[in-house]
Amino acid sequence: MPPETVAVEWQVAEDEGFTRLAARGTEMAEPGFGHSVHAEVRGLRPGRVYWYRFRAGQAVSPIGRTRTAPAAAANNERFRFAFASCQQYEQGYFGAYRDMARRDLDLVVHLGDYIYEKSWGRHLVRRHEAGIPTTLREFRNRYALYKLDADLQAAHAAFPWLAVWDDHEVADDYADDRSYTTRDPERFLKIRAAAYQAYWEHMPLPLSARPRGPAATIYERYRFGRLLDIMLLDDRQYRSAPACVNGGRPGTVADCAERSQPGRTMLGKAQEAWLDRQMAAAAGRWTIVAQQTLMAELVRHGDGPDRYWMDGWDGYPAARTRLLESIRRHRPRNPVVVGGDRHANFVADLAAPGDRSSGVPLASEFVGTSITSQGPGEKGLHDARTANPHIKYARGDKRGYATVELSAKNCVVGFEAIDDEKQAGSAVRRLATFAVEDGVPGSKAA
Ligand SMILES: [Fe+2]
Repeated sequence: MPPETVAVEWQVAEDEGFTRLAARGTEMAEPGFGHSVHAEVRGLRPGRVYWYRFRAGQAVSPIGRTRTAPAAAANNERFRFAFASCQQYEQGYFGAYRDMARRDLDLVVHLGDYIYEKSWGRHLVRRHEAGIPTTLREFRNRYALYKLDADLQAAHAAFPWLAVWDDHEVADDYADDRSYTTRDPERFLKIRAAAYQAYWEHMPLPLSARPRGPAATIYERYRFGRLLDIMLLDDRQYRSAPACVNGGRPGTVADCAERSQPGRTMLGKAQEAWLDRQMAAAAGRWTIVAQQTLMAELVRHGDGPDRYWMDGWDGYPAARTRLLESIRRHRPRNPVVVGGDRHANFVADLAAPGDRSSGVPLASEFVGTSITSQGPGEKGLHDARTANPHIKYARGDKRGYATVELSAKNCVVGFEAIDDEKQAGSAVRRLATFAVEDGVPGSKAA
């Protein structure tokens, strides 16, 4: 694109043929924001499907389909969404998205690692053809590459999306302004600013999420009638530095006193206080806490001290306790935590802090596997299941995504798995199904 501002017209219609227009407008696509447009459409009716398209000069975009949220007071009885994460482009094709696009869903929730900054892994099927991005131009090119994938395009064109980032949109395992790959915080924040801007430009995010330098507010609570509240959390931007690794790469390492310090935060003070208010205000039958990673404790025993994965909630136990206390205090209905990041499917019961013995969980947790990123070995997962009986299911050999079907009666979670992500056109089938009954915390295999 030339470095000029371009007028982009948009249309929203009630029918696929665009005979009944519901809204239209023009946005200015500015070179300073990668010629992206973020149209905020007002006046649509709640809880229905719309189609949309863009026009710039003689170019007309393909048609996208979306769906508005049900009105806050609606007595909606069914809601279906998929959640996904971790799509390393080189390690497989996005066949999981091709399958997702064919389903009847109200929403897609993306929990991070939409791009990967680095090349890694076994048996790569395609290449980034570029090194690790650090500038705005380089991050934009990485998004352009991922966004050219036809299966990913199909999933965007079929549903509305909610999206949050994890670490690989910026740099592996970073925490706020700390990164083991760029030790100088000032230099790292420049990379983070470029990465956040490219993410905002390329994702369906509102103007309110537009970064100001290295900061952007992307956590939010979304309501879908009386059936569902989704709290979408950002656990990367504000978190304390990794514990017990002295500035190095976090990983599964030996416990130390730093890990349990009460001042350590995962969400940052402001987001934590905000979340506590949302827990009090949540009014849906189901309360979905959508965040990046596994919340349940996963201790690893060995010859020496216990070991923990310091990049996840296990590196921030005091912050996890405060979050669970907030749930216990405010009692939002049917709390269900969903996550990604681990490249494996997990099902866990989350106990109230200090209560492992009552047998009554506080909340249910589901972590979905990666779209393509390679998973952990079975030996480690077997040991993890044995040492952590509250983790009911852990399987890392399959790639895919998760579906959630909510009704007044229950919440049914399906782990959808692709046969072989390294083969184009590979089929997707159900790997496992779990259900949570209304009013009964904890999940059961279904
Ligand atoms: Fe990942």
